[in-house]
Amino acid sequence: MQDPIRLICDDELERRWVWISLIMAFAIGGLLGVYAVANNLHPPSNVETIDSSRLHLTEEFAEDNLGVKENADGSLTVTMVAARYGFFPPIIEVPADTMVKFRIASADVLHGVHVPNTNMSTMIVPGYVSEVNTAFPTPGKYAFLCNEYCGLGHDSMWSRLIVTSKSSPMSAGNK
Ligand code: CUA
Repeated sequence: MQDPIRLICDDELERRWVWISLIMAFAIGGLLGVYAVANNLHPPSNVETIDSSRLHLTEEFAEDNLGVKENADGSLTVTMVAARYGFFPPIIEVPADTMVKFRIASADVLHGVHVPNTNMSTMIVPGYVSEVNTAFPTPGKYAFLCNEYCGLGHDSMWSRLIVTSKSSPMSAGNK
């Protein structure tokens, strides 16, 4: 069979390099694919859809149901809504070294979350539930920043994440 690369390239050496780069690209792509499937990886923006205009009518994202909830296995689930220009509830308090599952939905446009000095970062795409599983090893007060431009108030769209040391009890709740 004739080398198909010959159609676009006459030089023998150049054709060899085209083949090498093609093989490398497919090998690396294939490796990533195998790794992602083997470890059940998926993008943090999830593939779970939701009607952003009716969040308040859903069970999970109704205003009264937002905040931190403890699961049977001791991990936490934090349910939040991002909307111009804030995160609700505005203060989240979790203990250090505890698995936390964030479930965040946007009520309007594209937002994002970035918590500096941690690995918490995700886009919050309207129409989807963003899910991030993480744990915060270091107690302290963290800024919970919107990192996707969402309008004139984007600069002031941030809230608080408080990570308490595991031995001290949770204080005042998440109002
Ligand atoms: Cu929300 Cu920027």
